[in-house]
Amino acid sequence: MNTDYWLESWKQNKIGFHQHEINGHLSSFWKQLNAEDQSQVFLPLCGKSLDLLWLRQQGHHVLGIEISAIAILDFFVENNLTFNSRYQNDLQIWESEHLTILQDDFFNLTAHQLLDVAGVFDRAALVALPISLRQKYAQHLKNILSEKAKILLIAFEYDQSKMDGPPFAVHEAEIHELYGDRYEIKLLLSQDALDNYPSFRSRGLSCLTEKVYLLTPTI
Ligand SMILES: C[S@@+](CC[C@H](N)C(=O)[O-])C[C@H]1O[C@@H](n2cnc3c(N)ncnc32)[C@H](O)[C@@H]1O
Repeated sequence: MNTDYWLESWKQNKIGFHQHEINGHLSSFWKQLNAEDQSQVFLPLCGKSLDLLWLRQQGHHVLGIEISAIAILDFFVENNLTFNSRYQNDLQIWESEHLTILQDDFFNLTAHQLLDVAGVFDRAALVALPISLRQKYAQHLKNILSEKAKILLIAFEYDQSKMDGPPFAVHEAEIHELYGDRYEIKLLLSQDALDNYPSFRSRGLSCLTEKVYLLTPTI
């Protein structure tokens, strides 16, 4: 599941993960991060998520990273946003008011680029990745986030033998393995979610739990 897989998914418009509404867990739980209005917030692997817009509406300066130019262009065009795109060395940066999307591989991000980030929203980023990449992803995120940044994280639990990812099953124990060394992990919600994802039923699932976590740095 390398970046070519995702670039091809966007090219073929196979983007079943994209939500046509703001994520309900984001609007329900974001306040628990206590991120100040003007602060910068970060969405890793952001796709063309409408959550970028909701966070901007809350007064935040929003930063996303996404590998696919199709996703980024779609985001600005479909939402009728005025935007510009420029290069900083080899990095393409897409900008609208209080909203920036870096077109790059997440693993190229540096701490310097996330210096001001106060909150992170991870929806369909960690769970988009197979286990080996999840470990690399969490390690990199921990390396580049400052100690003030909290994370709102959504994950799925299901029997991985019944359905191939993405999205992958990421159980609570794994969240603790990935983040427990640096974050206090609070489970905010655990709910049966299969009815909200009917396509997963047709892919073989008879049980799906969605969990929402708040990760607060301990150091
Ligand atoms: C499952 S989608 C989720 C998108 C978005 N978070 C949402 O909720 O709609 C995963 C996204 O991550 C992007 N992606 C995958 N690997 C990436 C990487 N290494 N660097 C940057 N973007 C990546 C893909 O192009 C895709 O848009």
